[in-house]
Amino acid sequence: MGKGKIVAGILAPHPPHLVYAENPPQNEPKAECGWESLRWAYERLRRSLSTLEYDVLIVHSPHWRTNSGTHFLGVPHFKSISVDPVFPNLFRYHYDLKVDVDLAEKICQAAAQDGLETQMMRNKDFRIDYGTIVSCHLTNPEWNKPIVGISSCGAARYFNMDVLQAMMFKLGKATRKAVEESGKRVVLLSSNSLSHRHFTSEPELPEDMSHEHINNHNQYIWDMKMIDLMKRGRSKEIVDVLTDFTEQATAETDSGSLTWMLSALDFPTYPAEVHGYGTVIGTGNAVVEWREANV
Ligand SMILES: [Fe+2]
Repeated sequence: MGKGKIVAGILAPHPPHLVYAENPPQNEPKAECGWESLRWAYERLRRSLSTLEYDVLIVHSPHWRTNSGTHFLGVPHFKSISVDPVFPNLFRYHYDLKVDVDLAEKICQAAAQDGLETQMMRNKDFRIDYGTIVSCHLTNPEWNKPIVGISSCGAARYFNMDVLQAMMFKLGKATRKAVEESGKRVVLLSSNSLSHRHFTSEPELPEDMSHEHINNHNQYIWDMKMIDLMKRGRSKEIVDVLTDFTEQATAETDSGSLTWMLSALDFPTYPAEVHGYGTVIGTGNAVVEWREANV
């Protein structure tokens, strides 16, 4: 068996609005249109990934929040309905997905060996969160690859961002080690928005784009700063400013997803490809791909 490899890392935000606007058969509510700049960004991502051979998607989700430690999906098959608690009018999605339990166990063990609190989640009736589902659906709507699902722990709230990041550096390193030992080729998904202050009411027609814009200019400036660092391959600088970014832009990076992924990629110095940026109920979202040449 050859050495496994992380072949790409994707910033893959999960607004349920994007699935709603795509009208896949799995989702009950139907839309006329909406949020095209982001949906077209995901189209570009899918075209890019179609040139890449990979075995598994590993997704770290802000909406599978475990208050203590990091948990991993540990059941081979899940089939049920996922409803967004904030937007049940937009997202009632029937999922049917496979899990690479073997790889999940390897990452879980490697992280535990490095001192992290970890646990395999063995409840076959567990409801998969919409962060995991939306990011995976928009990246691979065929669902023809198994996933590894990783929870986000609450360390940023219990302690602070610096504590969380120290943990995510270890989780990323453990992920890379386990992938290399597995012999598999994997794509990582960091399932989070950037700036995350959002409006508290929605228009009568949710996809009425005359209401859609960034919540405030401060957020926009921060999002552009982060994207500029991504485009210039300044991963270390991203994690250095992430505490301030997360606080000042109320960013969803408090989940640790982005820190985990940049650590797993060993803090890339090559430029990331920005497939697109757009807002959803005022939050800032970018679809961004990190891929080394010649993978
Ligand atoms: Fe979210």
